Parts: sequence; C-alpha cells; structure tokens
Amino acid sequence: MKITNVSNVQVAQEDNVKEQFALDVLTGLCSTPKNISAKYFYDDKGSELFQKITSHKDYYPTRTEFEILDSIKDELPKVVGEKEIDLVELGAGDGHKTELVIQGFLNAGVIVNFYPIDISEKAMHLLKKNITAHKNLKIHGIVAEYFQGLRYARTLSTNKQIVLVLGSNIGNFNPAQSQGFLRQLRKTINKSDYALIGFDLKKNIDTLLSAYNDSAGITRDFNLNLLNRMNQELDANFDVSSFEHFGTYNPILGAMESYLISKKDQTVFIGELERTFEFNEMEAIHLEYSFKFLKKDINFLCEHSAFEVVEHFSDKNDYFVDTLWKAI
Ligand SMILES: C[S@@+](CC[C@H](N)C(=O)[O-])C[C@H]1O[C@@H](n2cnc3c(N)ncnc32)[C@H](O)[C@@H]1O
Repeated sequence: MKITNVSNVQVAQEDNVKEQFALDVLTGLCSTPKNISAKYFYDDKGSELFQKITSHKDYYPTRTEFEILDSIKDELPKVVGEKEIDLVELGAGDGHKTELVIQGFLNAGVIVNFYPIDISEKAMHLLKKNITAHKNLKIHGIVAEYFQGLRYARTLSTNKQIVLVLGSNIGNFNPAQSQGFLRQLRKTINKSDYALIGFDLKKNIDTLLSAYNDSAGITRDFNLNLLNRMNQELDANFDVSSFEHFGTYNPILGAMESYLISKKDQTVFIGELERTFEFNEMEAIHLEYSFKFLKKDINFLCEHSAFEVVEHFSDKNDYFVDTLWKAI
C-alpha cells in the first residue's frame, strides 16, 4: 500500500498544518462559547482511542453499520455493474468496515482501486492492517483534508468512482454545512459516479447517551486528549485533570453534543499563541456535534445536492442508514 501525505508534500506545508491548528484554537478559544473543531481529535493517540470507542459495547454505530455493509456487500457490485472501480473514502479511519465493501467487489471479480483519505496518518497505518491484500486490489492512502484528498485522488483515478463517507462523519456538520459538503462532493465527481453515505438515525435518547458516554470512559479520554494535543503541539499548559467530559443530546438540534467543562477558575498559557486564556469554573468548550437524521432529512439532502437515491439500506433496529446515491 502506497501512502501519500498531501499536506506534507513540502516541509513548509507541515508548518502550515501547525499554524492552522494554532489559528483555529485562537479563533475557537476567543469565541463565545469557546470551541475547538472536532477535526483536531485525530492525532495518533486520538485515532487509537477512536478505534477503541468503535469496538465498545455501548457504541452502537460501528457494529450497526458493519451489519448493514455485510448484508449489502454482494449487492453493490451488481448495482454498480463495472469491471473496475475506484473506491474513494473520505475520513476512512481504520477501514475495517470498508474491508467488507472491498471484499464484495473483489468476490464479484471487480478490480478495485482504493483511495482512503484521512487527515490522520495514524488512521492510515491502522487501516493498512485491516485491509486484506488481493491481486485485484490496489491501495493508495492519502493523508489530507477531505476535499484536498478527493481532488488529489481524482488526478489518479480513471474509473467510475464510488465515494464512501461512512461512520456518520457527515453528522459532524450542521444541516447547512452538510448541504455545502454534499454539493462540493457532487461538483468534484462526475455524473453517474456514486456516493455511499452513512447516516446515524434519530433514536431512543438513552441509547444515544450511553454511546457517547461509554461506561469504560474511552470517549472521555478521547475528548480530553485534545488538551494533551494542544500541550504537545502548541506548547500549552492545560491541566487535563481539571477539565471533565460532558456528552448530551440536544433535541432541538437533533444532535449529540460533546463538551469539556472546566472544573475551576483557571488560566492556561498557549506558547505557540504567546497568550493566556481564562476559564471560569463550569465554563464549557464545545468540541463536537453529531447530528442525527430522519430518513426524510436524507432524501432532502440528496435532492438538494444533485444526486438521486439508488437505495437506502438499514439495519434491523432502524438505527442507521447507508444510502447509495448516484450523481445526476
Ligand atoms: C468518526 S471517525 C470515522 C472513521 C470511519 N469513517 C468509520 O466509519 O469508522 C472520523 C475520521 O475522519 C477523519 N477526519 C476528520 N475530519 C477530517 C477532515 N476534515 N479531513 C479528512 N479526514 C478527517 C478522522 O481522522 C477520523 O479518522
């Protein structure tokens, strides 16, 4: 498997990644309420912790999507009807569910070129272990932001594309951002290319709350790790033990929300920004939204981004949908 780190093609660009992180932290911590973008969760430690979350019994999304993909893997090659395809995955993570999709195509005799894209290089190494080698499978991992990676993949890709956005990554965007993301996706691919997108559905709130506050505390560690990352990469002096994780469901937004809450009044210095930030006792830093959907929301997003629904695939509990769209 080849891995290209698009953001590290030149050392100067590596500095840009750190500068962007510092700038986003500055903007986020100067906002009211304070916030930090969820994309910064995924340093090496964050990617490892996320992998642990996905196999915890309280976290239903991964095993549910696994069940769906396992049940449709033999159907997808028939629907797509190509002899060779390019599978491009945005935010691929450890790829263990994608392995099912790839196996489905390979079993049907289809040649597969797989371009996993992830902002985390660690994710790419975790993925490498989960994808079984095959003579008809070529893998080219791309370490990059979603669209930077997709544009790069398109310079290499010559076949019909299926763009995978699994794990309800789309749920990290608010409804307006999701539309923007999907429209940009549609603009970047060709007519008749496909998208297979995972959407987590609205459901019983207790089920949601336990998934995002797992009993082993892995989600807590995952969120607190963002403070460790700032300590390491931005020369900050967060006392991690004086913040706590809080995950809750907002029924008006229809989203799970993750926060870090300051346990006391405190001052933090961030060396890279050469400034201090004040946190009041019980003040929250917003980290992540995980929007939940109704099937009608999915149809709306599809109609408004120039795709047509080929089929929605769901699980026995109707917890999650992987929907196959065709670009029109
Ligand atoms: C919630 S995990 C899901 C991983 C995988 N899709 C799954 O279903 O298990 C999100 C993944 O997207 C990656 N990611 C987050 N923001 C990204 C961005 N802006 N560009 C590229 N990758 C991103 C993270 O590094 C992480 O591996």
